[in-house]
Amino acid sequence: MTAQTIPVDPFELVVFGGTGDLAFRKLLPALFHRDQAGQIVGPSRIIAVSRRQMSDAEYKTKTREAIERFVAPEDRDESQVDHFVDRVSYVAVDGAGEDGWEDLKARLGNADAFIRVFYLAVNPELFGPICQGIARNGLNSRESRVVIEKPIGKDFKTAQAVNEAVGAVFDEHQIYRIDHYLGKETVQNLMALRFANALFEPLWNNAHIDHVQITVAEDIGVEGRAAYYDTAGALRDMVQNHILQLLCLVAMEPPTHMDADAVRDEKLKVLKALTPIDGQSVERLTVRGQYAAGASAGGAVKAYSEEIGNGSLTETFVSLKAEIANWRWAGVPFYLRTGKRLASRVSEIVVAFHEIPHSIFGSDAGSVAANHLVIRLQPDEGVKLWIMIKDPGPGGMRLKHVPLDMSFAQAFGGRNPDAYERLLMDVVRGNPTLFMRRDEVDAAWHWIDPILETWKSKGDAPKPYTSGTWGPSASVALIERDGRTWYEDVA
Ligand code: BG6
Repeated sequence: MTAQTIPVDPFELVVFGGTGDLAFRKLLPALFHRDQAGQIVGPSRIIAVSRRQMSDAEYKTKTREAIERFVAPEDRDESQVDHFVDRVSYVAVDGAGEDGWEDLKARLGNADAFIRVFYLAVNPELFGPICQGIARNGLNSRESRVVIEKPIGKDFKTAQAVNEAVGAVFDEHQIYRIDHYLGKETVQNLMALRFANALFEPLWNNAHIDHVQITVAEDIGVEGRAAYYDTAGALRDMVQNHILQLLCLVAMEPPTHMDADAVRDEKLKVLKALTPIDGQSVERLTVRGQYAAGASAGGAVKAYSEEIGNGSLTETFVSLKAEIANWRWAGVPFYLRTGKRLASRVSEIVVAFHEIPHSIFGSDAGSVAANHLVIRLQPDEGVKLWIMIKDPGPGGMRLKHVPLDMSFAQAFGGRNPDAYERLLMDVVRGNPTLFMRRDEVDAAWHWIDPILETWKSKGDAPKPYTSGTWGPSASVALIERDGRTWYEDVA
């Protein structure tokens, strides 16, 4: 894709959890790309930290292996790999204890010369102790930043505890709560589409839009993360953060400008306007599922219960009908669904417009389908606008539903940058627009908590679905009851 690279100021990025999966799979490859592109300049450094004893040389070797594994050969230049590996070093620190902090302090440069970023890619239970270690050792300065990964709590109460612990050391303006969906190209494009075009905004309301669907489907299972996932489930893992953030971007009022607080104020209003789902309505408006054996991601796969051990009531799928109680959206359902081991990996937002009020065409012309705007996040990012046209050629007036189709890969070519590339550079730049503010996290939990509580009090098992399908039949019924269907790309 065409990109403009604006170098960021020199920084020191300390990655707690430096030997973990996130660091090797996402953070180091993302930083490598930014370095290779010339965005990371001067003496900027990445200091990986974890409890394990390891030499710098060993860590550099692991970094090189990660780049070779997670960056396609055509996207890397070997001399650039050497250059990047030179920026990386390692210090063993016990984040929850006393060991190693002096070594870290000695490794860090002058806080006035570098922007200092602490990235906590660790279990959230360690957020508090690590922040205290940072404060105790005098490593925090006004210009320091801390990045925290989800899960931020398991519910409102535990999220408060996490936010309090981090907030005891860092001011809100220093805290970057990452939701990597906000760094995805197409998600940012949603804002461009809505607010840089005069075409859509006048139609963006209940007078013209019938409903919205947001699907984030994965074909993979829980991979190596069962211990975490089984305590979370799909609602906490995907809906509380990624899907609600997407919903906010679709539904928010135009901010006055693209400023962090202006954008986040508008998102917050949407979260606060979500109609509560609790008590009786949970049964009617939500569906929980758990994958059974089947075929997915190219092979036969086991049931979740077999992977985890029998008896888990954790959902690997959820679909629900949300409503936003305000003037713009009253009466427009937002159908949300996400799950593991589904038929394919696809994330998309579908904005379904109303049907035409009256057709002037006879029955020979065929039926007139409603317009749909489909914003696809992955794979093959792009935007499709489904419209009716006359089927070309002789044979009278026959109507056809066709997409105006813009694939970003075809239009712009090149590599699509990973969300972490953008987000990491935003942290260094001090731009929190694409990060969650504390009140957003709180509001999201306020809406999610009653659903979780009702599920828990009822104690029902999630509905089984065969791996490689679109979830339990109840999810189809959820939308079909309203005379609508889940969008399927048939072009
Ligand atoms: C993470 C979830 O936040 O997002 C994972 O914890 C999920 O369970 C992942 O697999 C999906 O991200 P992406 O970018 O692959 O769609």
